[in-house]
Amino acid sequence: MFIIRWIVYLSLALGACGGRADTGLENAHYTTGPPNRDGIGKIYMGREISHVMGHLGAGWLERPERERQERTDLLIAGLSLSEDFVVADIGAGTGYFTFPVAARVPQGKVFSVDIQPEMLALIEQRKALENVANVETVLGEADDPKLPDNEIDLAFIVDAYHEFSFPREMGERLKASLKPGGQLVLVEYRAEDPRVPIKRLHKMSEMQVKQEMAAIGLDWVRTESHLPQQHVLIFQKPRAQP
Ligand SMILES: C[S@@+](CC[C@H](N)C(=O)[O-])C[C@H]1O[C@@H](n2cnc3c(N)ncnc32)[C@H](O)[C@@H]1O
Repeated sequence: MFIIRWIVYLSLALGACGGRADTGLENAHYTTGPPNRDGIGKIYMGREISHVMGHLGAGWLERPERERQERTDLLIAGLSLSEDFVVADIGAGTGYFTFPVAARVPQGKVFSVDIQPEMLALIEQRKALENVANVETVLGEADDPKLPDNEIDLAFIVDAYHEFSFPREMGERLKASLKPGGQLVLVEYRAEDPRVPIKRLHKMSEMQVKQEMAAIGLDWVRTESHLPQQHVLIFQKPRAQP
């Protein structure tokens, strides 16, 4: 009787955690504290994680002045892509970057990953409207982009990594999805620059990004500073895996 009661209790507890055992091991990477206005009160490697931008912010992502303000044209042109690349746009939002990138990999494809089904629905709508065949939407989980192992040539994350509520797990799963030698491109607003008009927790310093990527075993390749508000950090999965 006692054992049955414990089994029932345990399965209810697991259900409350979304089916995932909330083990101390899984949370060893994080601490908690009183949340700042834009944060969730969860700290990873000294950084408070920000709130997720809800799908009601889709209009802001698609604002016409974005290209001029952020030089998104330069961002896209700067990605080292081959026509047959398999690419992943993680935290894709409305697909602002998915579609121009898909046009640059006509023999390849783009996995467009987000945790908000409403965002993916917008991408599906545009896919149908523009008759785009090489974009595949993927509903990720907060700790897992749900991508196949060793298939991605290049993954990119624009203005989204700072809101991942499980950055360690996301990073590890992303690394697994990259081919050996595959690259991860991280674009974040520059925390070092007070003139960048973005809330503090939605910016990241170069040092912070580098230390978080080093923790999951990705090698830093270079940092590019050609955009007005963001830095572009390029990392690579080692070719020979230990
Ligand atoms: C500020 S938006 C940026 C969207 C897009 N990259 C852009 O620049 O237009 C951040 C997006 O990341 C998504 N996101 C947050 N956490 C995520 C996670 N763990 N996995 C995948 N997407 C996530 C949010 O749902 C949101 O659509």
